[in-house]
Amino acid sequence: MKIIITKNYEEMSERAAGVILGVVKQNPKAVLGLATGTTPLGLYAKMISDRREKGTDYSQIRTVNLDEYKGLPKTHEQSYAYFMKKNLFDGLGITPEQTNIENGTAKDEEAECLRYDALLEELPRDIQLLGLGSNGHIAFNEPGTPFSSGTHVVELAESTVKDNARLFEDISEVPRKAYTMGIKQIMQAKKILILASGANKADAVYKMVKGEVTEQVPASILQLHPDCTLIADEAAAQKL
Ligand code: F6R
Repeated sequence: MKIIITKNYEEMSERAAGVILGVVKQNPKAVLGLATGTTPLGLYAKMISDRREKGTDYSQIRTVNLDEYKGLPKTHEQSYAYFMKKNLFDGLGITPEQTNIENGTAKDEEAECLRYDALLEELPRDIQLLGLGSNGHIAFNEPGTPFSSGTHVVELAESTVKDNARLFEDISEVPRKAYTMGIKQIMQAKKILILASGANKADAVYKMVKGEVTEQVPASILQLHPDCTLIADEAAAQKL
């Protein structure tokens, strides 16, 4: 794993934008695997200002997202589909047809997972962006998830529900289940970029980089990826 440590969140976002823009410029038809959460917001803002200033073209880009809450429609303000539209796609001129995410309101859970598995086979990702859960999760693959997993529905860990409650009016509104891309599929991306910011990620960063590769720390599998870069700010990297 290549490790880049930055002074702060701002610099982490800047370096991350450099990596993603490099992929987009090299291949204007690239497939980008994207993440939600607080961590990539600075990166997304930088991609949007780069497009405004330099006119980077996203008209042929396709995107695949990691995960979606089960039960929330795309129009719900806390759905990940809505998050992506608001924080990235509208600013890059990316149309809904260019994007892919699990359907949180699909009637048949199993069929929806199979649909997403097939889609991931058809759209090999040039790069997969990841955030890191404070418990070491990647996407919604919580500790204990088999490394061989494909798209599946998960019961969110209590710590994840608590971490995400800040975005809802009340913790009781946080969905308890989510669709997530599996670990096997994350590992299939040609390149992986994982970002971590803040002292609350320091333990997870340490275990991911220096700990044993174990299903108890899902992100530890990234040690085995041939082209994975971690960009962490000093607070997140303090235990390395
Ligand atoms: C988001 C996702 C999650 C987050 C992780 C970190 O699509 O899959 O794994 O990346 O929970 O979240 P933040 O960035 O909010 O600290």
